Amino acid sequence: MRDPKIGEILVQSDQLQRRVKELGAEISADYQGRNPLLIGVLKGAIFFLSDLMRQITCPVEVDFMAVASYGSSTASSGVVRILKDLDAPIEGRDVIIVEDIVDSGLTLQYLMRNLGARSPASLEVCALLTKPDRRKVDLPTRYLGFEIPDRFAIGYGLDHDERYRNLSYVAAFEQ
Ligand code: IMP
Ligand code: MG
Repeated sequence: MRDPKIGEILVQSDQLQRRVKELGAEISADYQGRNPLLIGVLKGAIFFLSDLMRQITCPVEVDFMAVASYGSSTASSGVVRILKDLDAPIEGRDVIIVEDIVDSGLTLQYLMRNLGARSPASLEVCALLTKPDRRKVDLPTRYLGFEIPDRFAIGYGLDHDERYRNLSYVAAFEQ
């Protein structure tokens, strides 16, 4: 039986794969002759990141950060704590932050400031999903997969209490 908490499908699996391919091609063209560093934000971004990275044709490296935002599990407070920092400095590197979803934008705003202070050569954002209706801060998101409605999303890395990350599509969570 299908899990009743898995609601309406917001982005189908084949749509995800097609868009990831396009983003990979765009990044490959933009970073031609360079050696970008993808920074995945754990844990939600790893599914997107591993698919995206395999669509990038220039030499590319990867590192990870884990952050926790204080406050409730469904609303970001903007106060962010670093749980795991990068393995290596990013000074002089062409950095692309890879995020699963930009909701209020507060987590990303913090990450942009934090990483921007480490003197990278360039700093861009690649986010799979965004919920424009919930945005509190304006952020330059260079690469964006899909805009979704204001629903709590699960699947393709996105979780509800650590579950449903393994769905191959993005669905709305039914409370
Ligand atoms: P923000 O700081 O409000 O932009 O929240 C960003 C983080 O909250 C994301 O990286 C996700 O981990 C989590 N998040 C926000 N919206 C959702 C959602 O709809 N489903 C699952 N996680 C979400
Ligand atoms: Mg996240």
